[in-house]
Amino acid sequence: AVSQPTTNGTLSLKKIPIHLQSSQNRVLIKNGKIVNDDAIFKADIYVEDGIIKDVGPHLIVPGGVKTIDANGFFVLPGGIDTHTHMNATFMNAKTADDFYSGTRAALAGGTTTIMDFVLTEKGQSLIESFKKYRSQSDGLACCDYTFRVVIPEFIKGKTDSEMDTLVREHGINSFKLFMAYKDVLMLRDDDLINVLIKCRQLGALPVVHAENGDIIDYNIRKLKNMGITGPEGHLQSRPEEVEAEAVTRITTMANQVNCPVYIVHVNSKSAADAIVEARKRGCLVYGEPIAAGIGSDGTHYFNKCWQHAAGHVMSPPLRPDRSTSEHLINMLASGQLQTIGSDHCVFKTADKARGMKDFSMIPNGVNGVEERLMILWEKAVRPGKLDPRQFVAITSTNAAKIFNLYPRKGRLAKGSDADLVIWGPKPHVIRAENHNSNGDFNIFEGTQVSFGPLVVISNGRVVFDENGLHVVQGSGRFLPCAPNSSFLWHSIRDRERTLPIRIDRDGKDEQQQQQPNQQQ
Ligand code: URP
Ligand code: ZN
Ligand code: ZN
Ligand code: ZN
Repeated sequence: AVSQPTTNGTLSLKKIPIHLQSSQNRVLIKNGKIVNDDAIFKADIYVEDGIIKDVGPHLIVPGGVKTIDANGFFVLPGGIDTHTHMNATFMNAKTADDFYSGTRAALAGGTTTIMDFVLTEKGQSLIESFKKYRSQSDGLACCDYTFRVVIPEFIKGKTDSEMDTLVREHGINSFKLFMAYKDVLMLRDDDLINVLIKCRQLGALPVVHAENGDIIDYNIRKLKNMGITGPEGHLQSRPEEVEAEAVTRITTMANQVNCPVYIVHVNSKSAADAIVEARKRGCLVYGEPIAAGIGSDGTHYFNKCWQHAAGHVMSPPLRPDRSTSEHLINMLASGQLQTIGSDHCVFKTADKARGMKDFSMIPNGVNGVEERLMILWEKAVRPGKLDPRQFVAITSTNAAKIFNLYPRKGRLAKGSDADLVIWGPKPHVIRAENHNSNGDFNIFEGTQVSFGPLVVISNGRVVFDENGLHVVQGSGRFLPCAPNSSFLWHSIRDRERTLPIRIDRDGKDEQQQQQPNQQQ
């Protein structure tokens, strides 16, 4: 049976328009090397009405079915990009990609689900912001998507109640917290703790931007006083330990309130190591590096060309230490980091130019929704650091499990959504002039990749093949995500039963003493 996440409240799941299903609602993919996170095997996949109906050798199917020969190629679950920002206004600039151009780019790269963010400002209603984002994504998105709602402040009785409603009625099972962007989005420790407590209560996962905003603010002022105004100042205001400190702090707070935590855009060796250290302390923590951190580096901030350097400005910054990429890949391979996102948050060069005289005004963000799979394959699978099963785990399965979409997404099996990618040799050089994003710069410019998506199927429809994209605007669905994913919350609920020790010193009721680990 298909696992269809539901929430306690009512949800209006958008129906796929009928015309999408009529012409090519039945597809047979023959003889591919099916890759799941736990196995590779040769089989056919039969798809009907957006769902995988069968997986097995030599399937017998009805006549008139569109057949694709995948002999010699891999067939992967469609990628899940755990981190995108489409149609966002951030640092006074509007992203170049909306949900139409952004999801087209995603599909062209083999990603069939994006996890985006509802950005809110202090004083705004979280629910109103969510509805606004829905109105700008429904009807435009060409692939399925989910939202995480940003919590920019914690007002007792208001924020917690809105979080409640979002989880119970609107299919939200994750909230984003910022420890950076002082005075705008940054939460102080007591607010972080309040949000973590509420998340634990709801079974919703906090996803955290971990950088120390106060120190960054101090460093920015210091560097500007020294006359440093260019993008190199962005890097120097946010050293690795500023990222690692925040990882240590948030994992400590999360562990103390017994809440799992997910660190977005892990962009340094120090931050990745801080995650490992947190896990050694017993924290339930997940880590997401991004394509840019695997396929680019922070030496570009010193480039003489301002546009080139500013094009790489994102937070946390890419690191000039060129061994960072390999370190992050090794940690993905060993299971210390679990997913990969793109943090696709693209600003045109003209918008980046807001920070021409002041690096702290350069809108933060880079591309990657289209390149994510190809970059990881090139940098990690080709050199033998990851095998194809691990690649699938990192690019889709783990995300589906963590965000409670498994096995509807992230797996090629009977009953799962028919989101899949035929993957094989496709040597080309990444260039901004050929990419599908509306952005005019590509941080992977000039990178040679050898493999890529040959055919992409989203909700049972061929949306990308050798003739290019065949998307239908608005065919992507908002995916409501239920809270309490058992992959995270089972152990948390068990931990909740461990009570603190109380020593009874009046000698009367020793039998009633509760000792840890003796509860049922
Ligand atoms: O620089 C970045 N990462 N821009 C997008 C917003 C965020 O912090 O994720
Ligand atoms: Zn962030
Ligand atoms: Zn340049
Ligand atoms: Zn982001």
